[in-house]
Amino acid sequence: MAKIQEIRCIRTRPGGYWAIVKVVTDQPGLWGIGSANDVHHADTVTTAIEQVIAPRLIGRDAAEIEDIWQSVYAAAYWRNGSILNTALGAIDMALWDIKGKEANMPLYQLFGGKCRDAVPCYAHASGHDLDALVEDIERYLQEGYPVVRCQLGSYGGGGFVDAASAPRPRNARAADKVFDDELYLEAIPAMFAHLRDKLGFGPKLTHDVHEHLRPHNAVTLAKLLEPYRLFFLEDVLPPEQIDWFRQIKQQCTTPQAMGELFVNPQEYVPLITERLIDYVRVRVSKAGGITPCRKIAALCEWFGVHTAWQEGGDNDPVNQAAAMHLDLSSTSFGIQEENHFSAQELDVFPGHAELADGHLYTNDQPGLGIDIDEEKAAELLTASGPSGTAEDRRADGSIVRP
Ligand code: CO
Repeated sequence: MAKIQEIRCIRTRPGGYWAIVKVVTDQPGLWGIGSANDVHHADTVTTAIEQVIAPRLIGRDAAEIEDIWQSVYAAAYWRNGSILNTALGAIDMALWDIKGKEANMPLYQLFGGKCRDAVPCYAHASGHDLDALVEDIERYLQEGYPVVRCQLGSYGGGGFVDAASAPRPRNARAADKVFDDELYLEAIPAMFAHLRDKLGFGPKLTHDVHEHLRPHNAVTLAKLLEPYRLFFLEDVLPPEQIDWFRQIKQQCTTPQAMGELFVNPQEYVPLITERLIDYVRVRVSKAGGITPCRKIAALCEWFGVHTAWQEGGDNDPVNQAAAMHLDLSSTSFGIQEENHFSAQELDVFPGHAELADGHLYTNDQPGLGIDIDEEKAAELLTASGPSGTAEDRRADGSIVRP
């Protein structure tokens, strides 16, 4: 029996927001790692782990993953917040890593074995205009990505107009661009009309709305996009407005992907069991780790919904590894979002998943199969980090949900 001896966080990337938890046992050389990554609240999560949760877990049997998950969850009394979920998720991943090492099996084997050969991923294509976008999509298709996300411009592109040409109040705050729902409703269907004209209906394409629209316009967009047969439309609504998915499903067949901001089962369970979304997009660490995500994947299977665990931008190779093992072993898997890591960043994580030809490949090492080189991690750590998500506003200065 391996007892938990030490739990600490290793910080890397600018501002140290890639926080990787290391759970060390009393068995020589036996430890596990997990992702405690939170780009906005890294210090809060690591404090919760090291000062609040760790002291309670020292001396416990590392094998009791389910019981540790339930006890940490209940001990918080107030639960299902992103900070606690991330802290709990990191420890949960590390305990599964330890269990895999003890069993001398990669995690996907413990989860029932592979039910696919590798993990198909979707790429992020974008362009400042339609020609540049087509070029970017074609590049990813040639690389082997089975699905490509299509965005006009950068983050949340489309629907933005120069602030100078928008009807703004005389005391308007400084802004280069402002967001307009109706412009977005023009731009994105026109974008897909162009893409289908140039690329045909063979390529599987998605689009991410980043929740920018008013809910009634989200319904309109989903309906307008129906003729272009998307692989899925992502985050057309903010988490506060998920009841509107019922209207969307009554209006059109555009598949819906949702959930990278979800932290509470009350957000995703009804959407799955009422078949109001087609792909659930929670981030493995933000749902509370591998333990709850295995349950989500099983729930999805019974209701014909699929998983598309969130990765992308600020995510790290450890969370990616956790998602990959779920992907390899879940029948309800749909597609996996890609990540962009530099060669220097990957060097910090020996055993990281290999992304090639639009697919993720495991190294078949026991547990998560990934470790962290603490010296190299320290080299990538700088004092200041990213300063929050882009703040988009409408012409009158009111904020648009990210
Ligand atoms: Co998204």
